[in-house]
Amino acid sequence: MSRHLLSVDSLTRESVDHLMRVAARMEPIAQRRQVTRVLEGAVLGNLFFEASTRTRVSFNAAFCRLGGSVCDTTGFTFSSMAKGESLYDTSRVMSGYCDAIVMRHPDQGSVAEFAAATHVPVINGGDGPGEHPSQALLDFYTIDKEFTRLGKRLADAHVLLTGDLKYGRTVHSLIKLLSLYDPMRITLVAPPGLEMPSHLIDLVASRGHRVEERSSLADDYADVDVVYTTRIQKERFTAEMSEGFSLSRDFTVDRAFMDKRCGRDTIVMHPLPRDSRADANDLDVDLNGDPRLAIFRQTDNGIPVRMAIFATLLQVDELIEKELRPV
Ligand code: CP
Repeated sequence: MSRHLLSVDSLTRESVDHLMRVAARMEPIAQRRQVTRVLEGAVLGNLFFEASTRTRVSFNAAFCRLGGSVCDTTGFTFSSMAKGESLYDTSRVMSGYCDAIVMRHPDQGSVAEFAAATHVPVINGGDGPGEHPSQALLDFYTIDKEFTRLGKRLADAHVLLTGDLKYGRTVHSLIKLLSLYDPMRITLVAPPGLEMPSHLIDLVASRGHRVEERSSLADDYADVDVVYTTRIQKERFTAEMSEGFSLSRDFTVDRAFMDKRCGRDTIVMHPLPRDSRADANDLDVDLNGDPRLAIFRQTDNGIPVRMAIFATLLQVDELIEKELRPV
């Protein structure tokens, strides 16, 4: 694994497998059934210049669970970027204060620019419509765990990605990560204008996966193993796109869709947040309580996976066993 985690492009199947093994080992520590202090004395800089609940808090909790402490900055208003400070200067300054940095920023490529100026590991917590590699890792960990529970194999799996596939950075990272594995079937369903970028479709197809684009959820998806839906990222729309846009119910994942179109053991995932406003309709609350809805198992998995990322980047993954103690 490279020094930073900026994109799934830097991961190999071997490095993902390693992170999955370390994450599984982290579970009892994430649930505080065991304690480790392998990052005692280390400081994380958690820099979020765009809204976040899960990524910011779970990276913070993951670092603390390993014994480290966290300095947070949330929003441009409370950073000196509001006074015109550059990414380069911010990066040089933060490098003197922290042992690792997580950063979310609205501009694609900005986290890589920040990482180029520092000697400490940087994790991309989401760069505009670019990538969200730690989300893809926790999504993959979730799929693997759910498949083990259901007695399914990843090879030959059928994954449906739906919602905003143009601006949804989680699906950009996830489709690349899935493509590192044995050939599977990937179906893409997006509202008009929000389709998956063609370079990602070409990449996945070139690795031997069967990729198919469809225009509607009103089809038969009985053999789909995973329905992964995403929020429409209206904040990234141009003014022209925003005008009059409303998501048709045809793209909503709800109980009727799951009961009529999908199988009894098809799981439903979403990176969250889901948009609960009346005109949004990405993932209906009528699936709450349905065992196929894996979204909160998915969020829980964020902690052990982010612990595994820190332990690996900061090269303490081999020390975990030695440092363990019971609560
Ligand atoms: N999935 C995700 O990135 O959630 P947040 O925006 O709340 O961090």
